[in-house]
Amino acid sequence: KPLVFSGVQPTGNLHLGNYLGAIRKFVALQENNDCIYCVVDLHAITAQLVHADMRSQIRSIAAAFIAAGIDPKRHIVFNQSAVPQHAELAWIFNCVARIGWMERMTQFKDKSGGKNAEQMSLGLLAYPSLMAADILVYRGTHVPVGDDQKQHLELARDIAMKFNIDFMEHIRRTDYGVDIKVGEEPVHAFFPMVEPLIDGPAPRVMSLRDGTKKMSKSDASDLSRINLMDDADAISKKIRKAKTDPDALPSEVDGLKGRAEADNLVGIYAALADKTKGQVLEEFGGQQFSVFKPALVDLAVNVLAPISGEMRRLMDDTTHIDGILRDGGERARARAEVTMNQVREIVGFLH
Ligand code: TYM
Repeated sequence: KPLVFSGVQPTGNLHLGNYLGAIRKFVALQENNDCIYCVVDLHAITAQLVHADMRSQIRSIAAAFIAAGIDPKRHIVFNQSAVPQHAELAWIFNCVARIGWMERMTQFKDKSGGKNAEQMSLGLLAYPSLMAADILVYRGTHVPVGDDQKQHLELARDIAMKFNIDFMEHIRRTDYGVDIKVGEEPVHAFFPMVEPLIDGPAPRVMSLRDGTKKMSKSDASDLSRINLMDDADAISKKIRKAKTDPDALPSEVDGLKGRAEADNLVGIYAALADKTKGQVLEEFGGQQFSVFKPALVDLAVNVLAPISGEMRRLMDDTTHIDGILRDGGERARARAEVTMNQVREIVGFLH
């Protein structure tokens, strides 16, 4: 049975990229799957150790999940540090994975750019190992994320595969394994191979100021991103000021090639409207940005205003959000402990 897992870091403001690349997909997936959505506070201390308002950041991510439409009763919403099994499995994965695998991650290279090894935490390097543990401690199979997380999920597969192979004989001695095929290779596996879910018209939402950079929480320019909590005026201003080229929109998707900013805005429109880029261009092909941008403003405000309104309401009553997280944490812990009991036995620890 598919198990959907994904996580969002409680660092900085959630933006349209987080919503379209991840949270919106979380909502859609709950219809037919068992879903676990996590606020990854242990990841949040890898790049910057001390946070003044970590608790409110954690609550605001949880509030965004709920406001967007995630049902915390049918599914699980919790924060990572409430389930110590994540860190326990991550430690074992630190011993399975190789340092070179971590050093090759482009996100690590980006975040470490210009810094030397004395200035970076060991946690930043081991980040993907914890991420693999997040998913696999529930034996998760499907992971909705934006395109920037693809490489981390490939690494999660490598870690799962190496664990399965290194401990193959140990796994055989238990009845926890299942026969799977990896390519043509039959493997008696304990951990499944995770599938990234990255499809849709906006797998990588780009900065509104520069179509070659992804929209990011850490961009110094607030004009580069639409925050989930932005009001209608801010959304309107940012979209009106968004960088574009002088040409009209093309009527075919092919015509967006080499026009990164136009491509980005059409992708955003399509994702918000639940359409394909082709359908958006059928409607707006041949039109100028002076026509398209106001339509995009209306659409973005219509979709985002109810979410930010509900987030504000939820943030006013922290006992409600804290209750959801506590309940989710308990249920997650019970499930993670089942896996960890098996892992401890496979690895050979005495309990
Ligand atoms: P984070 O917190 O940086 O981002 C949360 C989600 O938003 C997606 N995203 C984007 N999608 C499209 N366009 C963008 N510009 C954009 N920016 C961010 C991210 O891809 C992500 O899906 N390492 C993860 C958190 C994590 C996780 C996990 C995810 C920890 N453990 C286990 C999945 C499974 C991260 O830093 O996401």
